[in-house]
Amino acid sequence: MIAERMRTKRFGRAVSYFHRIDSTNTFALKVAGERDALHGRLIVAGGQSGGRGRHGRRWWNEPEKDILCSLILCPPEPRAMWHLLTLSCGASICEALRDSYGLPAGMRWPNDVLIDGRKLCGVLTESGEDRLVIGFGVNCNGDPEKLPEDARAATSLRAELGRSVQRWSLLSRILECFERRYALFCTHDTEGLRKQHLSLLGTLGRRVRVWTSGKHPIEGMAIDLEESGRLVVLCDHGPQVSLSSGEVTELKLEEKTKS
Ligand code: BTN
Repeated sequence: MIAERMRTKRFGRAVSYFHRIDSTNTFALKVAGERDALHGRLIVAGGQSGGRGRHGRRWWNEPEKDILCSLILCPPEPRAMWHLLTLSCGASICEALRDSYGLPAGMRWPNDVLIDGRKLCGVLTESGEDRLVIGFGVNCNGDPEKLPEDARAATSLRAELGRSVQRWSLLSRILECFERRYALFCTHDTEGLRKQHLSLLGTLGRRVRVWTSGKHPIEGMAIDLEESGRLVVLCDHGPQVSLSSGEVTELKLEEKTKS
């Protein structure tokens, strides 16, 4: 039923649907390890009992309300560029939300989709031996108030639009947008991708606090995105740095560094 809606060439043409599963990413990683794992195969769930977010966090959902899925890809080398696909997936979700509902969706580097500062969607990219699994969750028809406390600052499409949405039409649109960006990725057109990512990256021009692996966060102004997908931050108390990963919080312009 979901596969029939797809207007893509490969993405989501083969779909495995689970009414309930622990995590679509965990399942997709298992499948991706099999020799004949299909490029473009999509794992979709109505509900997850152990949905995973970044940094070991949980991803909550109300059953049958959201988009919860993981896409298996076999991207070309170099592997070091694969993380660009996380940004591309986020940008595709933003584009689909803007086109379908006129919502001002933007990306918070590197993997969130926000609407007016509230999180609507998260992307979790994980790699196997020669496959990549890109999982994303989009809060569609649920009520953020019913989520556990740590997720209540989130939003849903229903909360934004005041009505329910057709999840699988949106999913189909997201995958169409993503397949187009993936084609650019395969031709190594990283400048083309950068331009597209830049136009949807809400983090740019904002004061940010970024937790990387160090003990103290970096604080400063997010000023650029490199072709490699690294975020360039002009630090308040030091030089300019370019970050390959991290957890970003947007600060108010006047917010002072905490020591
Ligand atoms: C994040 O914001 O930290 C990323 C959240 C990713 C959640 C999705 S839901 C579908 C897929 N399966 C999972 O277990 N996680 C991802």
